[in-house]
Amino acid sequence: MFPIVRPRRIRSNNVIRRMVRETTLSPDDLVYPMFIVEGKGVRKEISSMPTCYQESIDKAVENAKDIHSLGIPAVILFGIPEHKDAEGTGAYDDNGIIQRAIRAIKDAVPELYIITDVCLCEYTDHGHCGIVSEGEILNDPTIQLLAREAVSHAKAGADMVAPSDMMDGRVTAIREDLDNEGYPDMPIMSYAAKYASAFYGPFREAADCSPQFGDRGAYQMDPANRREAMKEVALDVEEGADIVMVKPALSYLDIISDVREQFDLPVAAYNVSGEFSLVKAAAKMGWVDEDRIVMEILTSIKRAGADIILTYHAKDAARLLGG
Ligand code: PBG
Repeated sequence: MFPIVRPRRIRSNNVIRRMVRETTLSPDDLVYPMFIVEGKGVRKEISSMPTCYQESIDKAVENAKDIHSLGIPAVILFGIPEHKDAEGTGAYDDNGIIQRAIRAIKDAVPELYIITDVCLCEYTDHGHCGIVSEGEILNDPTIQLLAREAVSHAKAGADMVAPSDMMDGRVTAIREDLDNEGYPDMPIMSYAAKYASAFYGPFREAADCSPQFGDRGAYQMDPANRREAMKEVALDVEEGADIVMVKPALSYLDIISDVREQFDLPVAAYNVSGEFSLVKAAAKMGWVDEDRIVMEILTSIKRAGADIILTYHAKDAARLLGG
C-alpha cells in the first residue's frame, strides 16, 4: 500500500515552501566586522579575505553609511594601532584608533549600532590577548586592562562591548568598571565559548595579531570539548553577560544548539574569517555558487539557534535579501 504521508505535498512549489519555512534570515540578524587603521584615505583589501578591507577612519565612515543603508543594524569594530607594546596601551587610550573611530562613525551615522571587540591582542607587540610574564599569559592583571578598555569604548560612545579574550572573570571585571564609571546600561556580549581555532587564520592577517610565540590554547577552548562550553557560558551569564556568543560558527553548530537549549539569553555566533575565506576561494575557482552557499550557511547558523550572526558576508547577504 502506498504511504498516506507524502512530505513532498508541501514542497511542490515555492509559495508553499515559503509558507512552511521554519527559518528565515533577515538583515536584522547580521553584524558586519570592520578593521580600522591609522591614516587618511586608506582602503586596503585583505588578501586572504577578498572584499574585506583595512580602512582608515574616513573610509570606515563611508563604509558605515553603506552598511547602514543596506539595513544592517550593527558593526563590530577591530582596531589596528600604529604602535604596539607589551601592555597593549593603545587598547585603553581614550584617543586610540578605535575610540576615534567610534566617535567619527557615531557622528556620521548615529543610528548604526556600534559593538567593539574588547581584547588586547591587536595592541600587544607579542600578539597575545593578555599580559605576558615568562611565557605565561597572566589572567588577573589582564582583566583589569580589559575593563579599562571597555570603559574607554563606552566613553567614546560605543553601544555594546564584546570581550573576546577568554580570560576568567573578565565579564565581572568589565561589568564592575562600567557600573562604577557611570555606564550601568552598557550591554556586554561575551565571546563565551570561543575555541582555539584554525578558522581564525585570515583574521590574524586582517587584524595583524598573530601570537609571536606559542598559540592561544592556554586560554581559548579545545575544539574537542562540548560540555565545557556550557560551563563557560554559565559563568558568563552569572557574571552578567547580556548576550553570549559561540565562535567559530560553522564547525560548532552543536554548541550553538546546546546554548540555545540551555540558556534563555540571546545567542550570537561568529561566522569567522576562515569560514568566509573558504567560501570566497571556492567561489573564485567556480566550484560553488557563492550566493546560494552564503545563504545556506547563514540560514543554518540561525537554524542551529543563533539570534545574531557576525559575518563578513553581511553586506552580500543583505543585498541578496533585498536590502
Ligand atoms: C581577538 C579576536 C580574534 C577574532 C575575533 N577577535 C582572533 C583570535 O582570537 O585569534 C577572530 C575573528 C575571525 O577569525 O574572523 N581575540
